[in-house]
Amino acid sequence: MGKIIAVHSYKGGTGKTLLSVNLAAALARKGRNVCLFDLDFRAPSLSALLKVKAEYWLNDYLNGTCEIDKVLINLTGRLSNSGKFFVGLANPTTEAIREMSAKDRRWEMHALGRLLSLRNSLLNNGFDYLIFDTSPGLQYSSINAIVTADLVLVASTFDKSDIEGTKRMLRELYDLFEKKTGIIINKVLYDESLRNTEDVRKSMEQTYQSPILGAIPCFCDVSKAKGTIIFVEEKRSHPFTKILNKIAEKIDEMKVN
Ligand SMILES: Nc1ncnc2c1ncn2[C@@H]1O[C@H](COP(=O)(O)OP(=O)(O)OP(=O)(O)O)[C@@H](O)[C@H]1O
Ligand SMILES: [Mg+2]
Repeated sequence: MGKIIAVHSYKGGTGKTLLSVNLAAALARKGRNVCLFDLDFRAPSLSALLKVKAEYWLNDYLNGTCEIDKVLINLTGRLSNSGKFFVGLANPTTEAIREMSAKDRRWEMHALGRLLSLRNSLLNNGFDYLIFDTSPGLQYSSINAIVTADLVLVASTFDKSDIEGTKRMLRELYDLFEKKTGIIINKVLYDESLRNTEDVRKSMEQTYQSPILGAIPCFCDVSKAKGTIIFVEEKRSHPFTKILNKIAEKIDEMKVN
């Protein structure tokens, strides 16, 4: 049985897109068949970061104007020795962003049905993982992604407002939908009071009263790469890659459904 993972956060810029891409690639490099989806219709990113254009977008699939096989782009060749690595893109044009932001509740309910049916069409037909990169906060499209997912990866920084918002989402959103969550603390800056991963884990598990799946330092190399390098493929011995591979390992061992 495959897993659907939504990568979400309270605030923007916490590293959801970076984590989604690298986690998808890490799982594919472990031999899993993975499909990565850009469900951030507010600020689509994957088309630019992965330098691919689509003929059909996820917007079209959710609108009901095409089926999912038309949307998926095969990027398996980008990774060496991997399982399948496919992506579904969100349309980054201004027109499409404006159109998506004007959708009403009825349309969103229909879109939820389309997302839910991906489990049958993809997970039951050879994909092991569907990974959803989402918009931050309580956007309708993100709620739909969370409802559809088996596991929500919550990216959090040490920013005070991010922590307060994440705490609320844990209690009032993920718990409400009875979703299993794994928190990833990103952009960690170590100092005397926070010396290592174990310190971060202890301190943040107390703050969130929820399991911490991993802690990732703030790396200048990651920042400099501007999101266009798939670290787990192109920088295999980088500490970021080692941490991502460990997180992928933990997720692969998790029983979620
Ligand atoms: N651990 C890290 N070290 C250094 N830079 C990082 C790290 N994690 C993320 N970044 C950088 O922070 C910026 C934001 O990351 P990213 O776009 O993945 O966040 P996001 O949560 O997807 O943002 P948005 O909410 O706007 O979609 C990017 O420039 C990314 O390279
Ligand atoms: Mg993003």
